[in-house]
Amino acid sequence: MKAALVGCGAIASRWIRSLLADRRIEIVVLVDPDHQAAQALADRYELSPAFSATLEDALALAPIDVVVNLTPPDHHYPVSREALSHGLHVLTEKPLTLNLPDALDLVHLAQERGLLLAVMQNRGADPGFLAFRDMTRHGGLPPFTITADTLVTLPGPGFRSSQHLPVTTDLAVHAFDQVRALITAPPTEIACIETPTGFLAPHSSIAVITVHFADGSLFTYRGGYIVDPFLRTNANGEWRVEARGFAARWAPDPAANPGLAEAGPPAYQRCIAAMVDALHQPGPVPVPAIDNLGSIALLDAALQSAASRRPAPVPEVPDARP
Ligand SMILES: NC(=O)c1ccc[n+]([C@@H]2O[C@H](COP(=O)([O-])OP(=O)(O)OC[C@H]3O[C@@H](n4cnc5c(N)ncnc54)[C@H](O)[C@@H]3O)[C@@H](O)[C@H]2O)c1
Repeated sequence: MKAALVGCGAIASRWIRSLLADRRIEIVVLVDPDHQAAQALADRYELSPAFSATLEDALALAPIDVVVNLTPPDHHYPVSREALSHGLHVLTEKPLTLNLPDALDLVHLAQERGLLLAVMQNRGADPGFLAFRDMTRHGGLPPFTITADTLVTLPGPGFRSSQHLPVTTDLAVHAFDQVRALITAPPTEIACIETPTGFLAPHSSIAVITVHFADGSLFTYRGGYIVDPFLRTNANGEWRVEARGFAARWAPDPAANPGLAEAGPPAYQRCIAAMVDALHQPGPVPVPAIDNLGSIALLDAALQSAASRRPAPVPEVPDARP
């Protein structure tokens, strides 16, 4: 299959390495208004793609089957929608969208057109985290009190320096994927406050998020883009769980490259391979993004709470399965 890779920033290298190793998808167009960024990627990986500044222009340059959407979060919905509207499969970086109605719109469009729509969920699928989830599920009974701290440093902050609420839109969605694996009851209410700490760096910011669940469980998250590597956590976060008669903690080494300490390929590579498997499986094309709608409901409510500075109800996710 032939792909247009849309968005040639920091994360694109990870995707290109994985797709080149997989070999089932050929990158025929690199799309980015920043031509230098696209050219640098082509040079680094010895690709000979066409180049374009927009997806619309890319469609005229080469036959394309699938769009890999690696744009900043606020571009995810329009880029993915445009791709699906043109009959193209979509593999997208997280978050799927910034709100639940947009996510449902993409899911319905993919279903109507028989197209794949899959979103990266590498932290929720990290093998170390999944072992922690299994230990929690087998050892403890809800309700749970869960805390997570994720403090990340970035060599190149990219879009985050100008993104409104960068931690909530870009980082917290990982924790939403993760906590949904630990607490299966529906979330009911969320409170989110994100405070820029621009005195450290333009992208620096700290978000504090509290989520209540229908079974009485409570999740508190503290996420941040910080500057000093000495203070950072592992990008998977540091997790603590307590229930009656049960306590568990998962705090992977901050210096460890997430996923690489585990046996086998890192989680993002497994996620990309699973997406490409889904594209090539016989029978009707699946829409794996349906499984991520719960995380987008949390993100939607978190952004509403941050804007209103009050707790917000978490919208119920309608059953989108065919
Ligand atoms: N899953 C993960 O662990 C992980 C890690 C890092 C980033 N990401 C995600 O990857 C995405 C990109 O992050 P990044 O760090 O590469 O950002 P970045 O700022 O480094 O790069 C974004 C690129 O997109 C380009 N762009 C912006 N609008 C565009 C458009 N409409 N069409 C084409 N190109 C456009 C920009 O010019 C830039 O080159 C984000 O959604 C982010 O959340 C995921």
